[in-house]
Amino acid sequence: MRVRFNPFDAGFRRDPYPLYHRLRDADPVHRALGMWVLTRHAHVREVLRDREFSAGLIPTQVERRVDAGARIVRLGRASLVFTDNPEHARLRGLVNRAFTGVADLRPVVERATDDLMADAFARDVVDVVADLADPLPVAVLCAWMALPADVAGRVAAWTHDIRFLLEPGLMKDDDVARVTQVVDDFVLALADVITQRRARPGDDLISRLGAARTGGGDRLTDEEVAFVVIMSFVAGHETTTSLIGNALLALLRHPGQAALLRARPQLVASAVREALRYDSPLQMTKRLATRDGEIGGRAIRAGEVILLCLGAANRDPAVFAAPDAFDITRDTTGHVAFGDGLHGCLGGQLAQLQAQVVLEGLARHPRPLRLRSDEPLVWQDHSQIVRGLTRLPVAWGSA
Ligand code: HEM
Repeated sequence: MRVRFNPFDAGFRRDPYPLYHRLRDADPVHRALGMWVLTRHAHVREVLRDREFSAGLIPTQVERRVDAGARIVRLGRASLVFTDNPEHARLRGLVNRAFTGVADLRPVVERATDDLMADAFARDVVDVVADLADPLPVAVLCAWMALPADVAGRVAAWTHDIRFLLEPGLMKDDDVARVTQVVDDFVLALADVITQRRARPGDDLISRLGAARTGGGDRLTDEEVAFVVIMSFVAGHETTTSLIGNALLALLRHPGQAALLRARPQLVASAVREALRYDSPLQMTKRLATRDGEIGGRAIRAGEVILLCLGAANRDPAVFAAPDAFDITRDTTGHVAFGDGLHGCLGGQLAQLQAQVVLEGLARHPRPLRLRSDEPLVWQDHSQIVRGLTRLPVAWGSA
């Protein structure tokens, strides 16, 4: 039977990996839904590393539906995620100067995790997604940016509203109007903060973005700083939530690996990397071909869209032996959960730090966690590209 990619299928959402394996074997450069769907690690990495493929998909999908002068149009044209070179190299060079010293944030992450866990530890049943994994990344980013309380209090709702920015094709007209408004409100709320930090810089992320300079004296404009802040929340919230949820689920489903981690806590970083590979929070990303070419023997034309299945590449047996096994001691070198090449993730270290701190914190409880068998797992379905649970209720097992 002919294999067909259908991301809307409920079974695919529950477990996409069997279909990825079939596609990779039978039709690794697959035509579906008007796109090329790539599932082999070698092909996915080749496209991620090739600058001839453009990341600039948002302008075409949003611009024709909003006012040409709208701020969201500038965000689509001038923010890191969607720009190509030479603009991307300029922005990334400046932003990289500010996104450093993530390891120093450990106390911040530990404090935010402890606050959330204090409450969770007091209860018998905990939803580790809603109670912990969902609020944590926003709390950590707000703390790193030292956002004033009135702005910080609105960030979670804004971020939820504009999550579509990474999937502009899913936006209905109502969504476009709301997202356009939220981008305006968000930038406006950040304007004063940025002005103050330029005048009296501290060691927070916004001050550092404002202070970043190239050798030639180039710097980010206020609006560019605001776009980096906004895209950090959009790109770093649900993905980190999903990493924490997916990592915990994998451990709960593999009690032998969970016991190994309790016995050897120094494996925590390796366990997080394996969770990223085994059940990648960002399953897909897209590129636009800018010239005619060829991938895996198939002709690709300029203007065609390519869907890169990162989750499939991370289960490719050509790179990872026994790819469906969750093994926290494996060498995960080469995983593409954070992408690769010039658009490779800016916040990967921060996300991993948060997942590590959560796993370490849960291990401090005298009793191990257990999955509640009476609760069906529900995978979120508002995003086509993020794989994560909407909730993960757990209970404390016997010591
Ligand atoms: C587990 C959590 C995360 C995962 C799985 C993840 C995954 C990714 C992937 C796959 C890309 C490349 C996309 C592409 O090439 O099309 C990317 C880019 C990016 N990520 Fe992350 N991310 C995570 C957390 C974060 C965090 C915490 C932040 C910010 C604080 C962040 C900010 C960004 C930004 C700004 C880019 C665009 C970089 C560029 O285009 O140069 N991410 N991420």
